[in-house]
Amino acid sequence: MGSLTVAGATGAFAQSTEVKIAYALARDSHYGAAADGWDKYVTDTSGGKFQFMHFPSSAQGGEREVIEGLQLGTGVQAVVVSSGALSNFVPEIGVTDIPFLFRDLGHARSVLDGPIGEGILEDFRGRDLIALAWGEQGFRHITNNRQPIEKPQDLAGLKIRTMENPVHIAAFETAGAAPTPMSWPEVIPALQQGAIDGQENPLSVIVSAKLWEVQKYLTVSGHVYSPAMLIVSPVFWDSLSDEDKKIFTDGAIKGKQAMRAFVDNSEKTGIDTARAAGMQVNVLSEEQKAAFQASIQSAYEGYYETFGKDLVNQIIATK
Ligand code: PAF
Repeated sequence: MGSLTVAGATGAFAQSTEVKIAYALARDSHYGAAADGWDKYVTDTSGGKFQFMHFPSSAQGGEREVIEGLQLGTGVQAVVVSSGALSNFVPEIGVTDIPFLFRDLGHARSVLDGPIGEGILEDFRGRDLIALAWGEQGFRHITNNRQPIEKPQDLAGLKIRTMENPVHIAAFETAGAAPTPMSWPEVIPALQQGAIDGQENPLSVIVSAKLWEVQKYLTVSGHVYSPAMLIVSPVFWDSLSDEDKKIFTDGAIKGKQAMRAFVDNSEKTGIDTARAAGMQVNVLSEEQKAAFQASIQSAYEGYYETFGKDLVNQIIATK
C-alpha cells in the first residue's frame, strides 16, 4: 500500500494513506456513486488521513481478478463489485441470485439489511474478504439483437452473455437459452462482433454503458435482483485501528445509500432514456413474467439443494 503526501497538508496527517478503489463502470454510474459516497465520508471523517484513488471502468481488470487481488492483498484495497463472480469465492451469496426471488427493491433491501444479509456479510470473513455493506444495481433485464423477448420460447438458442455466476447460468440453460458466461470488459466487443446475441443487466448498467449502441431490443423482464457489495482487503483491514475500521464501515453504509438512491432514479428514468436513445422496449406483464418463472421451475430444485429450501422460504416470507 502506498503513502501519499498531500500538497499543503500539515500536522498529523501530512502523510495520508492511499486507498485504491476499483469498480466496473464509469465514475458517473451507480458504482461511482457508491465509491464517491464511501470516499467522501472516510476522507472527511478521518480529516484527510486516507486518500482514495479511483479505478473506474474495469481499469484494474474484470471482477474475478480484482477480487482475487483483494483476497491476496496484492491488488487494490477496496472494491465495489456485483454478485457476478462472488459466488465462486463465497458460495453463500448465491442465494441472492435466484431468479424471481425478490418481489421488489424494498423486499431485497429488507432481506439484505436484516439477519440473512448480515449473516452473508459475516460469511465473507472466513474467505479472506471483508464485506462491509450491500450495494445494489436494481433488477436485471434482457437486451439482444435478435427479437423482442415476450415468451420463454423466444429465448431458445439465444446466445446470451451472463455473469460468471452458476445460479444465473443454470436459469438460462433451463429456459433453453445458450448462456455464455464472460467477464464484463469482454461484453461490448463480443456484442459488436456478433459473437453473442444479447446480455442481461439492470437499467443502471444499460444506461451507464449506453448499451443501445450495440443492442436493439430491451425486454424489461426484471428476472432477477442484482446486488453489489462494498468490500476491503483483509490485509488493509488488519492495518487499521478500531477507530478507522468504524470510519470505513460507516463510510461503506454511506456508499450503499448513495448507490441505492442512484438505482431508485435509474429505475424511474431508465426505460424512457433507453427508448429515447432508439431501443425497442417491451415491458413484460406479470402474466408473462410468471411464464418465464414457470419455464425455469426445474432449476429451483437445484437451488433448494444448494442453499436450503428453508432459507429460500425465509427470504420469501420477509416483509
Ligand atoms: O453484468 C455484469 O458483469 C455486472 O452487472 C456489471 C456491473 C456490468 C459489471 O460488474
